[in-house]
Amino acid sequence: MTYQEQLDKDRIPQHVAIIMDGNGRWARQQGKPRTEGHIKGVQVVRKIMENAVELGIKYLTLYTFSTENWNRPESEVTALMGLLFKNIEEEVFTRNQVRFRVIGDIGRLPVEIQKKLNDCMEHTKQYDRSCMVLALSYSSRWEIARTARILAEKAVKGEIAADSIDEKMFSDNLNTSFMPDPELLIRTGGEIRLSNYLLWQSAYTELYFCDTFWPDFNMEELCRAIYTYQQRERRFGLTSDQVSEQKK
Ligand code: IPE
Ligand code: IPE
Ligand code: MG
Repeated sequence: MTYQEQLDKDRIPQHVAIIMDGNGRWARQQGKPRTEGHIKGVQVVRKIMENAVELGIKYLTLYTFSTENWNRPESEVTALMGLLFKNIEEEVFTRNQVRFRVIGDIGRLPVEIQKKLNDCMEHTKQYDRSCMVLALSYSSRWEIARTARILAEKAVKGEIAADSIDEKMFSDNLNTSFMPDPELLIRTGGEIRLSNYLLWQSAYTELYFCDTFWPDFNMEELCRAIYTYQQRERRFGLTSDQVSEQKK
């Protein structure tokens, strides 16, 4: 039986976050330049988005370009920006009734990309079947520091009291305020780390790591991750007995 067939359709996570890693190593394995891995990676993004919609996932958050990735060789950064520009296609979102959003320090991106991103967000905002979020020029520490700045400014202006700042207010001022925290975070490509992704939001997220390079990731791998997630007991600090009691 496939993992897809074994899934409990009533317990699909609402929000799945993915660290799409391994494009470069995939390319090297094939004797190709790294860029070829990124090109294949984009095709997989499209497929996985459609798969996620089919499974009923409401939010798919894809780590596409990190703050640290700006430090890659200029030629690779340029190639990645080119690919991004070419592949933001409204038609794909419209066809799937998917809302498109971005998180990150978007002002650092080339202006023509910013314009395309903004247009695509504007033109898809009526769709609510599912939402695909690209993390671009994103890092958690950047996001958390920015939120601290926003709240400090509000406090200085007297709009909020410093002692009213709590976890909820903090979450509500993050880039991700429009969505729930991810229940499941997947990282492909074999590394066991978070690389500055959704650190605040994944405080209680189930983590899933697989060796598959992103260009080889597919629906069955996605279902395997969700299946694994469904086998786990999420205790949130409680005892197993308490959790069983709550389910009754
Ligand atoms: C992920 O693949 C894509 C980006 C970070 C843009 P990598 O480019 O990191 O691939 P590896 O890790 O070098 O194989
Ligand atoms: C994380 O991958 C960033 C993205 C997938 C966009 P990296 O390949 O940049 O991560 P590290 O540097 O190996 O941790
Ligand atoms: Mg990598």
